[in-house]
Amino acid sequence: MPALISVSGLTKTYEGGFTALKQIDLEIRDGEILALLGPNGAGKTTLISIICGIVNPGKGSVTVDGFDIIKDYKKTRSLIGLVPQELHTDAFETVWNTVSFSRGLFGKSPNPDLIERILKDLSLWEKKDSRIMELSGGMKRRVMIAKALSHEPRILFLDEPTAGVDVSLRKGMWDVVRELQETGVTIILTTHYIEEAEEIADRVGVINNGEIIVIEEKTELMRKMGTKQLILDIYEPISELPESLSSFDLSLSQEGMQLIYSYDVNEKNTGITALLGAIRQEGIKFKDLKTEQSSLEDIFVDLVEEKS
Ligand SMILES: Nc1ncnc2c1ncn2[C@@H]1O[C@H](COP(=O)(O)OP(=O)(O)O)[C@@H](O)[C@H]1O
Ligand SMILES: [Mg+2]
Repeated sequence: MPALISVSGLTKTYEGGFTALKQIDLEIRDGEILALLGPNGAGKTTLISIICGIVNPGKGSVTVDGFDIIKDYKKTRSLIGLVPQELHTDAFETVWNTVSFSRGLFGKSPNPDLIERILKDLSLWEKKDSRIMELSGGMKRRVMIAKALSHEPRILFLDEPTAGVDVSLRKGMWDVVRELQETGVTIILTTHYIEEAEEIADRVGVINNGEIIVIEEKTELMRKMGTKQLILDIYEPISELPESLSSFDLSLSQEGMQLIYSYDVNEKNTGITALLGAIRQEGIKFKDLKTEQSSLEDIFVDLVEEKS
């Protein structure tokens, strides 16, 4: 997939001196669902806000479909629908007017059929004449999604879309997101819930302290979750793995005092028997052994701790 959004060397320092983004390089692919996962304060909203042209970038550059977000602001903004983290709409306006008006703001001619379809897809049709102030939190968030979709954007940003939305409604929201992807919309969402990233994303980027510390296909991250490690504490440190063990997925740790063997728990043959045989042949003696399994949660926690 080609890159639709390209962020390079983006650094943002807010007035007051706090650096919220440090040298971000990121390519967002056309048609993907990308989840940006990170704790509060990581810089997710700052990154999204810059791409959408709401916050001034510091150093670096951002292009959307080949257009520069500053020089060609009108063009890039028109390609993007944004559902912000903080909901702000006119409480006295009706759902229908709010969504239709938003389309007009982007200079698009009225299209009541489209607005009707969007409201129906988001289960808001019955509420079309209600005023925003009469809606529940989850409904308000869906109105924000409808607003963001009203001008038929190619890219949709959802900043913490499930905050304050009940579990039962989240599923409906993911259905809408998947349907949008099928129509060719590229979707970027932020979350601090790992399960959400796992459920919906094609790729997951982990952001912490203003840096993207990992970005990978979700399936690859999941595969890592299926990996288990056998950890052998050995008596005598070894500086290099012997040739006879090169066929095993082994690494040395703890200054040569530990051998770590990674294997796939889903495989029928984990290779442990063969490994232990080969280790004995080499005359390596071990005093203890244990196994560890890494989950996406662990990967996330490790990464975040390592970097902070
Ligand atoms: N307008 C601002 N002025 C100064 N600091 C800000 C501003 N907006 C955000 N920050 C700071 O930048 C950091 C990243 O914030 P944000 O992008 O909102 O993170 P996230 O969305 O991941 O929770 C936080 O430490 C936050 O306090
Ligand atoms: Mg945020």
